[in-house]
Amino acid sequence: MSSQFCFCAKDRLLIATNKNGRINFLILKSYNFATVKKLRMKQIAIFSSGAGSNAKKIIEGPLSPDIYRDSPEGGDLRVPPYNVSLIVCNKPEAGVLKIAAENNIPVLLIEKEKFFRGNGYIDELKAMGIDLIVLAGFLWKIPVALIKAYPGKMINIHPALLPKYGGKGMYGNFVHETVIANKEKESGISIHYVNEVYDNGQIILQATCLVSEDDTPESLAKKVQLLEHRHFPAAVALLATL
Ligand code: GRF
Repeated sequence: MSSQFCFCAKDRLLIATNKNGRINFLILKSYNFATVKKLRMKQIAIFSSGAGSNAKKIIEGPLSPDIYRDSPEGGDLRVPPYNVSLIVCNKPEAGVLKIAAENNIPVLLIEKEKFFRGNGYIDELKAMGIDLIVLAGFLWKIPVALIKAYPGKMINIHPALLPKYGGKGMYGNFVHETVIANKEKESGISIHYVNEVYDNGQIILQATCLVSEDDTPESLAKKVQLLEHRHFPAAVALLATL
């Protein structure tokens, strides 16, 4: 198998998608980045315009022993793989702004005109030393210039198993309503690179949950959100080590 990345350490195995298609991530118990040499902490900007529950989990991620990586020199030095240094938001009333304030993280409130007709705030992001962009509930389409400024460094999470149930208008409960209406037996999450087409970039990680006959869009949303919170910080940590 030619996987894009694959770490094996003791009883832990972590496999990402291969270049030709997707395979489900297999994560056993924990993460170990002992083989990774680059230790500079990556600076992350989270783009979010909603409640920000995923942003909160990602912000807290570096505090979790599960996603720390060991120093190549050994000893007690433990290095968090990333730091969330900016929240980018287009809605002044979004819940994520409270989460940013609680964590003392600067916010960049963006305007439509500048985002779409300017350069997508590239100058501001670069000036702030942003290495990796994480879309977590950000509904505006990302301008091509911004995607090109962060090649392989911009990811999104989608609350369904892409390539099904993605694309324009497929967000929030619309996704879960459609999954249930189509009598799917399973749903889940897809974490993928961002390209010029909505929900179309290469898939990095998928995790699944069962859809039962008595699931409502709300109950399914809860199952999917559990998966998001469990896997998204780890995926961000992994990408921060590449
Ligand atoms: C998540 O369901 C995510 O999959 C989607 O937007 C939602 C964001 O939720 N892209 P939250 O704001 O992180 O709670």
